[in-house]
Amino acid sequence: MFPKSVSIFEVGARDGLQNESMVKTQDKVTLIENLAKAGIKRIEAASFVSPKWVPQMADSADVMANIHRQTDVIYSALTPNVTGFERAVAAKVDEVAIFASASERFSQRNINCSIEESIARFTPLIEQAKQHNIPIRGYVSCVLGCPYEGEVALESVVSVADRLYQMGCYEISLGDTIGVGTPLQAKRMVEAVSRVVPVDKLALHFHDTYGQALANILACLETGVSVVDASVAGLGGCPYAKGASGNLATEDLVYMLHGLGIDTGVDLIKLAKAGQEISQVLGRPNASKVANALLA
Ligand code: HMG
Ligand code: MG
Repeated sequence: MFPKSVSIFEVGARDGLQNESMVKTQDKVTLIENLAKAGIKRIEAASFVSPKWVPQMADSADVMANIHRQTDVIYSALTPNVTGFERAVAAKVDEVAIFASASERFSQRNINCSIEESIARFTPLIEQAKQHNIPIRGYVSCVLGCPYEGEVALESVVSVADRLYQMGCYEISLGDTIGVGTPLQAKRMVEAVSRVVPVDKLALHFHDTYGQALANILACLETGVSVVDASVAGLGGCPYAKGASGNLATEDLVYMLHGLGIDTGVDLIKLAKAGQEISQVLGRPNASKVANALLA
């Protein structure tokens, strides 16, 4: 049984644009505002990571300050540590996201510490977020494979997801960071995690590197999961996962969901136009097949 509605968590402005060096702050702001106008209610708008590590996100405070915010939209940001959290609070984000990995080597490359150290680093951040009443989302990366280790043990995925949930994350987003997973594997992974984290607290975050993301999401929807991360125009990748392409294009996801009779609240044409505009800014072909078909 598929869910009646799916909540879309749009990550293009963060997961997508963290890989792009020349995007002006105003172009990011326009993208975020266009996404909200298209009916997206949850937008990852910024990333308060170290600007030495990801200079592309160094203007996050300016992005947050310049968005004309809609009251019914949640504007979220990545925060790797207390410094990032403090910057996010100063920028008045609605929620923050911490990010851990199920793979040791990816953890080292991405946030310069072990999985265990990352959990310890998140503890004071979570305490502060609770004091500020700011909801915390948790990501687990490499849930279906790692760019450095290859296969990742399912027990590690389950254990990291469980720990983030127990620490107070209200939702756990399961990241196929390099898009290598296939449908049965993805479904089994979600089933295994849902034995420790309720399925209505899980989200799918599937990159589309191998063109499997839509099929993987369809398979996982059968488990009851009803939150899906996606990236308009298929923007992005990960600076610490070479060759990884963007998340599944939001337009392609919305088209499939509407075809299945699943409500998203999103206006597909407006969304496609938002993706087209940012693709033109980047001087890139639009990676959404649906957008290309609709706007042809
Ligand atoms: P580090 O070098 O070990 O940290 O990096 P540090 O504490 O030694 O700090 C180094 C310098 O950065 C210091 O400055 C700090 O003050 C500064 P210095 O003393 O040299 O002048 N600094 C900061 N400045 C601003 N904001 C901060 C901050 N933190 C430190 N928050 C650290 C550790 C975690 C900071 C670094 O590794 C980092 O920022 N990593 C982020 C990498 C990243 O953004 N990756 C992409 C996002 S994750 C992703 O895409 C996956 C996901 O989409 C899910 C999926 O697909 O699987 C979420
Ligand atoms: Mg990602």
